[in-house]
Amino acid sequence: MNEEIRKEALSLQRELTEHSYRYHAQDDPVISDIEYDKMLKRLIEIEEEFSELSSPDSPTKRVGAPPLDSFEKAVHSVPMLSLDNAFNDQDVLEFHKRILRLIGQEETVTYIAEPKLDGVAVELRYENGTLVRAATRGDGVTGEVITQNVRTIGSVPLRLKEDRLKAPELLEVRGEVIIKKADFKKLNKTRLDNQESIFANPRNAAAGSLRQLDSKVTAKRPLDIFVYGTGLVQGLEFKSHSMLLEILKEFGLPVNPNIRAGLAIDKVLSAYKDLEAQREELPYEIDGMVIKVDEIEIQRQLGEKIKSPRWAIAYKFLAMQNTTTIKDIVVQVGRTGVLTPVAVLESVNIGGVMVSRATLHNEDEIRRKDIRIGDKVLVMRAGDVIPKIVKIFEDERKGTEIPFEMPEQCPVCHSKIEKFKLDRSYINRCVNASCQAQLKERIRHFVSKKAFDIEGLGRKIVDQLVDEGMIRSFFDVFTLEKEKLSGLERQAEKSAANLTEAIEKSKKITLPRFLYALGIEHTGENSARLISQRFSSLDDIMVASMADFESIHGIGPETASGVYSFFSNEENKTIIRQLLNSGVEIKKDELLPIETQDNPFHQKRVVLTGTLASMARSEAERLLGKSGAVVTSSVSSKTDFLIAGTDAGSKLDKAKKAGVRILDESEFLVKMKEV
Ligand code: IVH
Repeated sequence: MNEEIRKEALSLQRELTEHSYRYHAQDDPVISDIEYDKMLKRLIEIEEEFSELSSPDSPTKRVGAPPLDSFEKAVHSVPMLSLDNAFNDQDVLEFHKRILRLIGQEETVTYIAEPKLDGVAVELRYENGTLVRAATRGDGVTGEVITQNVRTIGSVPLRLKEDRLKAPELLEVRGEVIIKKADFKKLNKTRLDNQESIFANPRNAAAGSLRQLDSKVTAKRPLDIFVYGTGLVQGLEFKSHSMLLEILKEFGLPVNPNIRAGLAIDKVLSAYKDLEAQREELPYEIDGMVIKVDEIEIQRQLGEKIKSPRWAIAYKFLAMQNTTTIKDIVVQVGRTGVLTPVAVLESVNIGGVMVSRATLHNEDEIRRKDIRIGDKVLVMRAGDVIPKIVKIFEDERKGTEIPFEMPEQCPVCHSKIEKFKLDRSYINRCVNASCQAQLKERIRHFVSKKAFDIEGLGRKIVDQLVDEGMIRSFFDVFTLEKEKLSGLERQAEKSAANLTEAIEKSKKITLPRFLYALGIEHTGENSARLISQRFSSLDDIMVASMADFESIHGIGPETASGVYSFFSNEENKTIIRQLLNSGVEIKKDELLPIETQDNPFHQKRVVLTGTLASMARSEAERLLGKSGAVVTSSVSSKTDFLIAGTDAGSKLDKAKKAGVRILDESEFLVKMKEV
């Protein structure tokens, strides 16, 4: 081997390490993936020929190694303990009091609060800066060696950075391997496309990926890590946990950015509330907050119990999943007649909310998952979305469970059901446009917040009005009289008066809201706004051609055809005339675009991600909409700008890869001023 090759290998190793760190830890890559892969390929070639140039911390180790027959055992130098749980403020206050009792009441204790990551605990052993072993927690005393697998995790440094500090002789660092929510979604989607079984949650997916004997499989999984503690350490001093975290960061190890230090006990409780409020928006799953005494000397004084330390506690969130039983499967008829099977559940508390229904999407999904009436299931709730069934406990079947059959007729109007294919699934649809169930849903949509926004016309009243025959079409909403309304069950006179007033007020409506309210297929809020911006009057829209709709930036062929056929239909034209005759008036929209030549967002595709400090996301969307931008939710090569707030996740990565222009909050605000 000549000197040149040796130099080339060393320089490739150094550069690839640096690029990998910039990509994973700093979110700031300077070369493309293709360039990275090219350099890596070259290094692999060299190391294959001259194995002496390969080292345990070479970036080539990230692609996986030959499969193992079994995992070796790893005895932990210091046992990997678990944590006691707290479930309410009282438990935390008792934890605090016990600490004061043990160390002396007059002492002050400062805490540090970290998100409790819902992943898989691992220990990484660095000897003189090189990652030499990674192990699972196992039973806390003995785990399994999974070094080859952990080396494939991009954010795990194979060598510690030594910019400011020299790596200690020995550093056992502990952390949690996770899969971010967005990556998890993508992973399951790919598995579904490949007809593989899907993972129930990111933790299971992470655990399954780490348990692979073939690390080349692990290398394909989107694993990530945050570190939060140590095992045995030699040659490194630190006085507090917060100082330790700073040091770990210096070494290039990923530390969660969402950690709060320097907290007195009252601030610990408010930190928990804050974290709980942020939970849904965080890019990874957490199941609570870990509270730790910051000062190492106090930690040492407090010591450990058999299974858990006395200086830390896990303040758990209410679980967002729970098990229950499917009592029945009913079929709901949507606005466009699509039939959606819904599981009626034995009521169950999920994260503080009683849940009694879960969507089953469509017939295919029920068949694919083999969901039956009587099944014991795991139900998940997230944010405002309808709860979903994530798992069926097939082992617990008694044989009395009943498979679901899609009805041959609409369960409400008994009309024929039509089956058609959409994407991968078959959709069932009630063909009767005047089906009462469809009508109810259409009216509900028509009066909803983003449409006519009629306060007081809730679900129950709409049901009653349709059942009593008082509403048969959209325009009936505007002919409801106070006297008739007050005759309705539960409708007191006062609220009838309020309702008629709300109806009257709603008659003045902007064009985008009006279009949205009509419930045209494939036409959501965004499309309605884009169409309004292009035509600016309803008369123009009613005579526009298919090509006119297709030419609008941001409108796809499905929406174009949906809108065109809606306005080509005589019945629909009549409905619109009736509405205008019953007093509906389309007012000039303050949101129509400001069409200046130099408006930087005009007709640009913009994606928002992360949290903005100066305004709510909805406000940013409104401002962007006002300047004529098309706000979309996912990044593609067609995206013009990505506006990235703090904690921006996978969208930011994707935008960087796609070469999309990225604006941080202040750049966004400056540009907004140009509008
Ligand atoms: S510290 C001795 N910090 O929770 C204390 N653990 O129930 C060791 N976990 O096994 C744990 N996030 O897998 C700590 N920020 C965090 C954590 C965390 C998640 C997990 C860890 C541990 C389990 C204890």
